[in-house]
Amino acid sequence: MAPTQPPLSLSLIDLASAITLPEIGRDIVIAVSDACLDRERFGHAGAEGLAIQRLITLAHAAASLRFIWASAVANQVIATPSVHPLAAVVLCLTNATHVFEGMDEAATSENLTSTRNKILSYRLVTDLFTDCQALVCVDAPRPSLPHDLYDAPTRRLRPEADFESLVDDLVLAQQSAGFSAQRLSKLRMALSVILRELLENTDDHAKTDAEGKALSPNSLRGLLVKRIFETRRHPEHGAGSSAPIPCLEFTIFDSGIGYYDSYRRQLLRGQARGAPVEVGDRQVDTIRAHALGPAVSPDVEYAIVLKCMGRHSDKAIPDPRPGHRGMGLYEVLRALKEMRGLLEVRTGRVHGFRSFLEGELRAQLEPQDSPTRPGMPRATLLDVDHRLSTRPAPRDMVRGTVVRVVVPLA
Ligand SMILES: Nc1ncnc2c1ncn2[C@@H]1O[C@H](COP(=O)(O)OP(=O)(O)O)[C@@H](O)[C@H]1O
Ligand SMILES: [Mg+2]
Repeated sequence: MAPTQPPLSLSLIDLASAITLPEIGRDIVIAVSDACLDRERFGHAGAEGLAIQRLITLAHAAASLRFIWASAVANQVIATPSVHPLAAVVLCLTNATHVFEGMDEAATSENLTSTRNKILSYRLVTDLFTDCQALVCVDAPRPSLPHDLYDAPTRRLRPEADFESLVDDLVLAQQSAGFSAQRLSKLRMALSVILRELLENTDDHAKTDAEGKALSPNSLRGLLVKRIFETRRHPEHGAGSSAPIPCLEFTIFDSGIGYYDSYRRQLLRGQARGAPVEVGDRQVDTIRAHALGPAVSPDVEYAIVLKCMGRHSDKAIPDPRPGHRGMGLYEVLRALKEMRGLLEVRTGRVHGFRSFLEGELRAQLEPQDSPTRPGMPRATLLDVDHRLSTRPAPRDMVRGTVVRVVVPLA
């Protein structure tokens, strides 16, 4: 018999940087230190969503997971868990154990139950003091869905009108912070479409495995809402100041099988909503034969992710009428262009972004004389580090998908 390996130790805040995750099947002990309360330690904007994705990846791969909480951080998270998204997701994992330093077993168990209840029943706050909050959905074994996003009796995603009211509340709170009413009213429709499409995608594509069976353990999804300042990634030449812009940031995460495998599932099983999914000749043999892994080249994976982005592009309407609702990820791109926002996607080995922030390079649009979609976004992504490369460099493999949307308020 192989000797048993000692547990591997990590610190939770390590997940906020691009560490290489330990190999599958290890026992892992994670220290939760006071550093996790320090927003600065998360570094760049978007780091917390990526940390949640690494956490979920780890939780799916580890033999066991044990969290050791320092007492100060435990007390703060127990008091207000939803304003600490990474810690909140830690507490919602369904295959982990927890030790709160200085607390006996009975108190630990009681606090775990009450804190989880707080997280799962949290309602978004629209005051000016809360600049970071999270909603978490647990899908299995016992579903628990946030009231702000789901209708409790039917367990269905709320209708568009409810998303509009939710966005209204969030956006109105910003108005009192001095942002222009005109800009904000323009944002609300587009933003509610974006949020609903992205959440619907987690609901449609990320709750089941490649065979369509419910994912378990750790079938988690969620939404992070933050107020941030974003710096332009690639200012246009001579575009003036590159001072950070006040923005609302939304991060939608899930623990599903990712874009490539969900697209493959639809291809093999014919589950697509609407028109069936399609692939090009260059990818078809690979995608039919292989789930995402070493046998799938990064080029083929990336081509499939772009297929996902552009799935509904042909049906997109270039000049939206009031009340018009588009469909899917392409509609998200279109709405972001209209709002001059930014989108970042991390799934499988792909990490790419698209920015329509004012003053950024206007590349990646269909030409104005395009017969079908003049001036509309092309379904492409740029590399997050090499910002002009339309072929994002392959990254470590992660579980699920994180989509981050940034909308400037100024
Ligand atoms: N959260 C997700 N997890 C896995 N796959 C996803 C996710 N979101 C989108 N996809 C993939 O991207 C494709 C395109 O998404 P979308 O444009 O919303 O169209 P639709 O949901 O109607 O298929 C989906 O069919 C699916 O394969
Ligand atoms: Mg969809």
